[in-house]
Amino acid sequence: MSDRIHSLSGYMYEYQKSVQDPESFWSRIADSFHWRKKWDKVVDWNFETPDVKWFVNGKLNITENILDRHLYTRGDQAAIIWEPNDPEEEHITLTYKELHAKVCQFANAIKAKGVGKGDRVIIYMPMVPEAAIAMLACARIGAIHSIVFAGFSANALSDRINDCKAKMVITADGNFRGNKQIPVKEVVDEALKNCDSVESTIVLKRTGQDIQMTSGLDIWWHDAIEGVSTENKAEEMDSEDMLFILYTSGSTGQPKGVVHTCGGYMIYTAYSFQNVFQYNQGDVYWCTADVGWITGHSYIVYGPLLAGATSIMFEGVPTFPDAGRFWAICDKHQVNQFYTAPTAIRALQAYGTEPIEPYKLDSLKVLGSVGEPINEEAWHWYHDHVGKGKCPIVDTWWQTETGGIMVSPLAGITPTKPAYATLPLPGIQLVILDNEGNELKGNSVEGNLCIKFPWPSMLRTTYGDHDRCKQTYFSTFPNHYFTGDGVKRDEDGYYRILGRVDDVINVSGHRMGTAEVENAINEHPKVIESAVVGYPHDIKGQGIYAFVICDMDGRTEEGLTKEIKETVNKIIGPIARPDKIQIVPGLPKTRSGKIMRRILRKIASGDGDNLGDISTLFNPEVVEAIKEGASH
Ligand code: WTA
Repeated sequence: MSDRIHSLSGYMYEYQKSVQDPESFWSRIADSFHWRKKWDKVVDWNFETPDVKWFVNGKLNITENILDRHLYTRGDQAAIIWEPNDPEEEHITLTYKELHAKVCQFANAIKAKGVGKGDRVIIYMPMVPEAAIAMLACARIGAIHSIVFAGFSANALSDRINDCKAKMVITADGNFRGNKQIPVKEVVDEALKNCDSVESTIVLKRTGQDIQMTSGLDIWWHDAIEGVSTENKAEEMDSEDMLFILYTSGSTGQPKGVVHTCGGYMIYTAYSFQNVFQYNQGDVYWCTADVGWITGHSYIVYGPLLAGATSIMFEGVPTFPDAGRFWAICDKHQVNQFYTAPTAIRALQAYGTEPIEPYKLDSLKVLGSVGEPINEEAWHWYHDHVGKGKCPIVDTWWQTETGGIMVSPLAGITPTKPAYATLPLPGIQLVILDNEGNELKGNSVEGNLCIKFPWPSMLRTTYGDHDRCKQTYFSTFPNHYFTGDGVKRDEDGYYRILGRVDDVINVSGHRMGTAEVENAINEHPKVIESAVVGYPHDIKGQGIYAFVICDMDGRTEEGLTKEIKETVNKIIGPIARPDKIQIVPGLPKTRSGKIMRRILRKIASGDGDNLGDISTLFNPEVVEAIKEGASH
């Protein structure tokens, strides 16, 4: 691709062009991809309804751009290097040619099971190359994939299967994580008890653990591809056909299915990947995310592979067999760009620098951060000890809904500032609005981060409920996309993300809606009411603090707390398990019955002596009792 920015003035020039004439700007970038038919119009949009279309009437298949396009130029180059959980196990390299064959073959296999264009397929898998193969096979035949992170519970999985009425589930027997072996197929079995739409499941053998295979429903991956052709002509897709659905948490109710479409997502993930990471041909790039999250979609699979990069996929965890594993992998595969989350950096920082010392880390050129604000201490540790002071850090701000990186330094080009995501990428028109919706212009301002013009990889809808998309993202501030994040633009015009301004908490870089956790807690029969807030947590960024009113019914506090945690595990999964549960006699409420979370947030953060005037509450007396029982 010829759309690489090489200098700060180049960035400024491109940014100006992208704002003055977005159509020519994006059309030039899209030109370097393979289209079966070119678009009639670059963008059609309306943020009121909302209705956004990019590359209108263009025809393409994203996998042709990932696989077929690279076959002759880099067929023998590694596309994916897979590093297993156990360092004693051999790693696997798939060249572009091999990946092409495997994707085509699996595409034929799922087609033979009756999956076609527009059908939804759930992928619930460990971090194995087959997860990427499954995604691309769906995209090849025009089926819409929806990956569910394999740490979610059966209940959360069945909710997602039912929401999108999936026809097929692709899974594995189990998952190796550190020294644990986690059941996966068993969770699918449990989930499917409540799902009618699924006609077949394909099961990869990974751990070899005992599982139940139901005849007529379950088929092994190796049997499904047995004797199947490795050639497949890609389905022709419209730019605006759905590519995937990814469920994410919001401030209310159930997770919503964020919808991304083929054309715009393709252009933007490839463009942002190349420019943010300054990837050069031959480099080895590693993003440590799980494919179950948007980062895995856009920056392990789609972005890097569209750009013809070599992308590492890692099955395991950063602390197995020891806290030097990331660095061992960097040296082993001579990683050039390394992209991880602040929570992982903080967790490793807690082990000191000793686990890093045996490694050279001299191949590293660029370090990336994503998922939550990176605190200055972690930034410096990452910069000094991992990057040895010579690698720029790209602090990339974006969201499931934005599809790709929105605000970030371009590595080595944009001067960095610790804890700042710095400047928007070309094409991204940010505005800061106050709570009344007035634009705050100029520098040294702070407010709600909004976007006033569409970008190619933005969400198009929330699956099955367009009104929810409108209400959530386009109604708070009319004619703007509202991110839900607070932001500061400093005296240099640099952006610093301040965190969520809604009832969403960010736990280890994973989004959790407080309402969602409360709903799960309330499933426990002895819980009368609950309120969940975030509080600062050294490793996770934010921890989950639940205030719960219970009918103790002869139970001990300890016993009940344990049961409530188990309930949340079962309803959502371990990622939503509260770090702290406090049984309280009541919750502070306004006279109209609204829970005063601001007060609970302060108490949870250890700032309970600074609550301001609480006399207007309906029940000010509970506040003292809650403060007394608070745990820090
Ligand atoms: C937060 C992850 C500060 C933010 C790609 C956003 C960040 C939410 C950063 C989206 C960053 C992500 N600095 N905060 N560099 N990156 N966030 O959908 O609050 O899992 O709204 O997407 O994570 O989380 P999501």
